[in-house]
Amino acid sequence: MKLDKRKVVIVGAGMVGMSYAYSLLNQSVCDELVLIDVNKTRAEGEAMDLNHGLAFAGASMRIYAGNYDDCRDADIVAIAAGVAQKPGETRLDLLKRNTEVFRSIIEPVTASGFNGIFLVATNPVDIMTRITCALSGFNPRRVLGSGTALDTARLRYLVGEYLKVDPRNIHAYVMGEHGDSEFVPWSQALLATKPILELGKEIGPEFSQRLEDIEDEVRTAAYKIIEAKKATYYGIGMALTRITKAILGDEHSVLTVSAMLRGDYGQRDVFTGVPCIINQDGIQKVLPLSLTDEEMEKFARSCETLRESFEGIF
Ligand code: 2OP
Repeated sequence: MKLDKRKVVIVGAGMVGMSYAYSLLNQSVCDELVLIDVNKTRAEGEAMDLNHGLAFAGASMRIYAGNYDDCRDADIVAIAAGVAQKPGETRLDLLKRNTEVFRSIIEPVTASGFNGIFLVATNPVDIMTRITCALSGFNPRRVLGSGTALDTARLRYLVGEYLKVDPRNIHAYVMGEHGDSEFVPWSQALLATKPILELGKEIGPEFSQRLEDIEDEVRTAAYKIIEAKKATYYGIGMALTRITKAILGDEHSVLTVSAMLRGDYGQRDVFTGVPCIINQDGIQKVLPLSLTDEEMEKFARSCETLRESFEGIF
């Protein structure tokens, strides 16, 4: 079923929110796009700027700076708002402040009568997604975070470069926390239908070192970008767009989003990056991959890190 009027609300008109908005416009993903920001003037300026590009876009779109009442009939409310870490501030302090920001957002969104899907981008995204679920009282299947969708894209790009293959023919995932404890289950990585680990025999001894380097490069990509240009936003904006298309188009696409685990991979009480089938209802299903024992351990460690951070604040 295709929705007749696809409406997305973005809360937070900073670089991430606006890269997402720009990408939605360029890919004609929705019919109505609302920008909400504590700085209303900024949201108005951003809406004007995007509207001036409409003549060059592939389809029409209604774009405006709105308020929380506009969430009532939205299909997706995406949250890209949050405060940045202050010098000397711990991750936990940052989490506490972002929890307060989320309280001030989720309460009016739910009060509007919103009955769609929450898509969270604010970091640390796995924990902020869990907080969104707790504060909204929504069914966890309708609350998802960008998770490791971008990390997975980075992985496919790097493996594709290495093997000289279109990244779209590389089927591999980054799982776990969108952060330092994430990992690649290489046992599940395929080039078309061929297991990537089997290529080692053809490629030679440098192969496994190269895979390790790629995994490290994926894990540290955001640090490198932040060092070079202070923030990352285009990649995440496009990852959010991809997730949005899967929801609005009822695609049943497999994407690694941050989802609540309810016994999946032997874990519960945690939101983290796992391959999920995404459709218009949100997370239709968490895909159970056949991880090796070592990969299951890595996954369990990543979940434990996330649980500890959450319990420290909520
Ligand atoms: C990224 O991975 C920092 O979450 C942001 O690009």
